[in-house]
Amino acid sequence: MEKLRLRPALPTDCDLLWQWANDASVRQNSFKMEQIPLKDHIEWFKMVLTNEDTKLFILQEEDTPIGQVRLVYDTNVWQISYSIALPYRAQGYGKIILQLAENELIRGGHVGEKLYAEVKADNIASQRIFKQLGYSEVVAQHNNAYGYTKDVAEETYKIISLVSTGGGTVILLSNNINSVLLLDWLDKRVDVRYYSDKLNVDMLERIKPRLIISYNYRHIITSDITKSVLSDTKQSRVISESRDRNKKAYTTITVTAYSDIDSRKRSEELT
Ligand SMILES: CC(C)(COP(=O)(O)OP(=O)(O)OC[C@H]1O[C@@H](n2cnc3c(N)ncnc32)[C@H](O)[C@@H]1OP(=O)(O)O)[C@@H](O)C(=O)NCCC(=O)NCCS
Repeated sequence: MEKLRLRPALPTDCDLLWQWANDASVRQNSFKMEQIPLKDHIEWFKMVLTNEDTKLFILQEEDTPIGQVRLVYDTNVWQISYSIALPYRAQGYGKIILQLAENELIRGGHVGEKLYAEVKADNIASQRIFKQLGYSEVVAQHNNAYGYTKDVAEETYKIISLVSTGGGTVILLSNNINSVLLLDWLDKRVDVRYYSDKLNVDMLERIKPRLIISYNYRHIITSDITKSVLSDTKQSRVISESRDRNKKAYTTITVTAYSDIDSRKRSEELT
């Protein structure tokens, strides 16, 4: 079952997007602060849906629309506008919507192009988001605002898209206190198992995880595991291979994609 995903905006989203656009904080944090009349919005929306240089997505959790992100392309740069619906603010969706938007660009073959956003000086939440997502601060075109830019890059795609879309268990291997936040974040989104020892092949066969995150080198995913996963199913793949000095083990992130997840097995313990 899908959890969080971005989907392209549809003609039927017109009214919802108009309401979101006229939300008090959205107008307050925009550079044009006046309310938008419905007639203007309808014309604008028609243009957006047909303009190849504009991508407009809705962040959806199951059937619930959570927010919107718009990417407008001009000479190698994608300008970002985004918002989260009022009831869902301050729950981490702002970060996710921007990461998923970047994933869409990666999927569309836009790696190496630039992302750009301008954030008003008093919009602290949005500034935090861009900084945390690795954007660099640049001089903004507007007064009292910060500019943020970043190259569209593969790394973001790796974890976020796998965690936030599709069902299945995620195994987090770590005994590192710093991974508690990651565990907490994962736990809100997927069935996650936390484990502090080396994986073995039996466990993998029982659990058939969709994603294995090895947080640091003490919890290596050894090459026998990787080989077994890769030979078990054609759908498995390794997305990040980092070998130790002896070239015997993978130390970072290994991803598997088992198609047949047995829910009874999913509820079994790891050990
Ligand atoms: C800005 C906006 C998109 C942020 O989305 P969000 O889902 O509420 O933000 P997140 O939950 O991802 O929080 C981002 C960070 O800001 C912090 N934050 C959230 N609301 C905050 C607030 N009102 N004041 C200060 N910090 C805030 C969060 O604690 C988090 O920081 P942390 O990761 O260090 O804990 C959302 O508030 C919104 O839609 N605002 C109106 C439209 C808008 O401003 N769009 C952006 C224009 S650039």
